[in-house]
Amino acid sequence: MNMHVDVRNRVHQLDPQTQNFATDILEGLSQPRKTLPPKYFYDDLGSELFVGITKLPEYYPTRTELGILRARAGEIAALIPPDAALVEFGAGATTKIRLLLEARDIAAYVPVDISGDFIAAQAEELCADFPELAVYPVAADFTAPFALPEAVRDRPKVGFFPGSTLGNFEPHEAAELLRTFRDILGEGARLIVGVDLEKDERLLVPAYDDAAGVTAEFNLNLLARINRELGGDIDLRAFKHRAVYNRDQHRIEMHLVSQRDQTVRILGERFTFTAGESIHTENSYKYSLPRFRDLAEQAGWSLQQSWMDDDGLFSVHALQAN
Ligand code: AVI
Repeated sequence: MNMHVDVRNRVHQLDPQTQNFATDILEGLSQPRKTLPPKYFYDDLGSELFVGITKLPEYYPTRTELGILRARAGEIAALIPPDAALVEFGAGATTKIRLLLEARDIAAYVPVDISGDFIAAQAEELCADFPELAVYPVAADFTAPFALPEAVRDRPKVGFFPGSTLGNFEPHEAAELLRTFRDILGEGARLIVGVDLEKDERLLVPAYDDAAGVTAEFNLNLLARINRELGGDIDLRAFKHRAVYNRDQHRIEMHLVSQRDQTVRILGERFTFTAGESIHTENSYKYSLPRFRDLAEQAGWSLQQSWMDDDGLFSVHALQAN
């Protein structure tokens, strides 16, 4: 974007992380169709709200995936060679990985996450509970190539990417990400990945627009974060959360819709909104089995095995690198 000189100066005075945030926000709001990148949902408050979402009665993905992992842990873990290193991309809570570690003795675990402090704390807890397990945390952004620790280089690798996080990437980015995982894990690798399935929008929409309003708060926290970190003057009451299912694109879209004509200021830059204009904040793509198989194949993986819950809501797949 063409930033005014004084806005550019204000951005340069911020710490590097906030500078990236500011640049992406100013850029997204300058588009003819305003957007904000969903990766910025997850500050401390946003991460807490997301945990709240995973416990909502309407939000089926987390509990359904956990159900599949619990029921099939033996079968899934049997695909992990005992001398393998299990590499979790975007390691969050350890609930899911524990199910695999309990089902089989695994030699090494490599949690990868951008927040180094968080995974270090998680690693410590895991070491206490699984004394035989060697844990090598890596603080990295898993969407870009990174090197695995020297200590696991010679081990067979199995990636783990649960939670249907893949769905928050555009399909071409999702294919690129799967290709990056393949490059990181190397020859002969496997990948265990959780993928949300396409379904009736009467189930989908409430999962992203719950009665208690937690998802609305999560979405609006993006604007609150702009106010907190970039000194914005956005009136949160003047925007409303909206979740719609875009059937042609196979995705849930989240928007923040301006309730009136208004102008907001962020770092001295003014952004105008007309009543009803939306900021598109997130896509959550839903896959059918054949569309996911195509995506995996495009990225150099073959689908080896798939597991689903009885209602066909969610899927977990084992992929084999070609
Ligand atoms: C993290 N991700 C898989 C969630 C999803 O379902 O797309 C993010 C989310 N957004 C609103 N609710 C949950």
